[in-house]
Amino acid sequence: MTTFHNTDDSKDAPGAVVTQRVCVVGAGYVGLTAAAGLAELGHDVACLEADPARLATLQAGGIPIHEPGLDELVRTHMAAGRLRFTGEVAEAVAGAGIALLCVGTPPRPDGDPDLRQLGNAAIQVTRAAISDLVLVVKSTVPPGSCEALELLAGGHAPEGVAVSVASNPEFLREGEALFDFFNPDRVVIGADDPTTRERVSGLYPSTWPTLHCDRRSAELVKYAANTFLALKISFANEVAALSESLGAESHKVLTGVGLDNRIGGDFLSPGPGFGGSCLPKDLSGFIAVSDSVGQPAPLARAAQVVNRNAGSAMVDKLEALLGSLAGRRIGVLGLAFKAGTGDTRFSPALRLIKELSERGAVLVASDPLARVSGDVVEQAEDPYEVAQAADALVVATGWAAYRELDPERLRSVMTGHVVLDAVNVLDPDAFGRAGLDVYGVGRGRPTSFTPVPWRPLEWMLDADGSPSQPAELPVAS
Ligand SMILES: NC(=O)c1ccc[n+]([C@@H]2O[C@H](COP(=O)([O-])OP(=O)(O)OC[C@H]3O[C@@H](n4cnc5c(N)ncnc54)[C@H](O)[C@@H]3O)[C@@H](O)[C@H]2O)c1
Repeated sequence: MTTFHNTDDSKDAPGAVVTQRVCVVGAGYVGLTAAAGLAELGHDVACLEADPARLATLQAGGIPIHEPGLDELVRTHMAAGRLRFTGEVAEAVAGAGIALLCVGTPPRPDGDPDLRQLGNAAIQVTRAAISDLVLVVKSTVPPGSCEALELLAGGHAPEGVAVSVASNPEFLREGEALFDFFNPDRVVIGADDPTTRERVSGLYPSTWPTLHCDRRSAELVKYAANTFLALKISFANEVAALSESLGAESHKVLTGVGLDNRIGGDFLSPGPGFGGSCLPKDLSGFIAVSDSVGQPAPLARAAQVVNRNAGSAMVDKLEALLGSLAGRRIGVLGLAFKAGTGDTRFSPALRLIKELSERGAVLVASDPLARVSGDVVEQAEDPYEVAQAADALVVATGWAAYRELDPERLRSVMTGHVVLDAVNVLDPDAFGRAGLDVYGVGRGRPTSFTPVPWRPLEWMLDADGSPSQPAELPVAS
C-alpha cells in the first residue's frame, strides 16, 4: 500500500485523533479524499453521494477520479468496515455527530459562487439528524456562508436537535490529494463556540499545524490563499511577456525571483494561464465578495485580466507564426488543467482549443488521462497520432511525459515545423536539431527587435545628451 504517513505511530502518538462516527457529504476530490483519510486516521466514515453513477462505481470498489493511492486506501477501509458509501441520507447520518460538507460550489455565469448544492446538502443531513450535529464546511465558500448555513439548517432541525456550523477549508492539490491530506501545511478551523471547535479539532491529529479562528476568517483564508496563488501565476506571465520583449530568459528571471525565501518559487511558472475548478472560481468569488462590501480589489481584478489575456496571447503568437489559422491542422498535447490529473474543468488547454477553433483551426488532441467529447476537437490516442499531418503542435499541459517525446518521430509525421510550447516543458535545442522550431513562453527569441540598451543609456544622460554631472558630494571636514 502507498504510505503517506506512519499509521501505527500516529495512532499511538499524543497527537492521536478522537475516534468519531463521521458523515462525509459528496464523494468528489475533496470528499473522497477526506473520507478515505479520516478512515485511515481511525474514524468510522459513511460517505453520502448523490450521483447514482458515481455511487455505483464506489460501492463496487471503483474510484471515479485519478488520485495516487486513493483506490488502495478506499478498498482497504471498505474491507475493514470503516468506510461505506451510500445514497441514503438517513443511513449516512445515523449515529454521526459531525457531517463534512464537501459538495461543489461552482461559479455562476456572473462570477458569483453558486451555493445551492451546499444549502441542499445542509438541509438534507440536518433533517435526517437524530442527535446534535456539527456541520463542517470543507467546500470553498465566501465569508459569511457558515453563518448563513447555520440559519438555514437551523430552520430544518428536528425537535430537540441543535445544529452548529464550522469552517474547515480544504487546501489539497489534485494529483497529490492524499499526500496533502496527511501532510497539511496547515489545518484551519473556524468555529465560534468551544464545543464545536473541539469536535472538529478531534478529527485530526493534534500534532498537525492548526490555526484556530472565527468562521469568517477561516473562510477568507481559503479565498485569500487562492487569490494570492492566482496573482503569482499572473505575475509570472507578466514577467514572461516582458522577458520576451527584452530578449531575457523568463525561466532564469523567475527562478532568480523565486529563490528569495520571502517570495518562493512555487506558482511562478508562466503558461497559458491558470485553470481548474478552484483558482478561477475562487478569484471571482474573492472579487464578488469584495464588491458586496464596497471594496474594489484591484489586485485580484488585475490577476483576472492578465489570466484572460494569457491564452489569447498564445493563439495570437501561433497565428503570427503560421500566417493564418483558418483550415490549419493544429495538434494539441494536453487537455487536463494541469499535469497529474484527468480534470478538465476550466482547463486552459480547452480555452486554447476553443479560441483556435474560433479562428478556423482544425483540432486534434490527446492527454494521458483526460478525455473530451464534442465536435470541436478530435481525440487521438497519443502525441504521435496528434502530430500526424499537423501544421503545428501546441503543448498545453505540462505532463512530464512530454519531455520524453521523440522530436525526430514527431517531425517525420508533421506537415509543418512549428511547436508552441505553452508550458515550457520541451527542450528547444533537441527539437531544433530535428528541424522543429519550439516557441516557449518568455524564452529567448525576442519577438521584436527593440534597441533595449538605448533607453537605459538615455536615462544615464542629461536631457541635452551630455553626461550627467555627478551631484556635489559633501566634502568631509
Ligand atoms: N478539487 C480541488 O482540488 C479542491 C481543493 C480544495 C477545495 N475544493 C473545494 O471543495 C468543494 C468540492 O470540490 P470537488 O472538486 O471535490 O467537487 P466535485 O464536484 O468533484 O465533487 C462534489 C461531489 O458532491 C456530490 N454532491 C453534491 N450535492 C450532494 C448532496 N446533496 N448529497 C451528496 N452528494 C452530493 C456530487 O455528486 C459530487 O460527486 C468545492 O467547493 C471546491 O471549490 C476543491
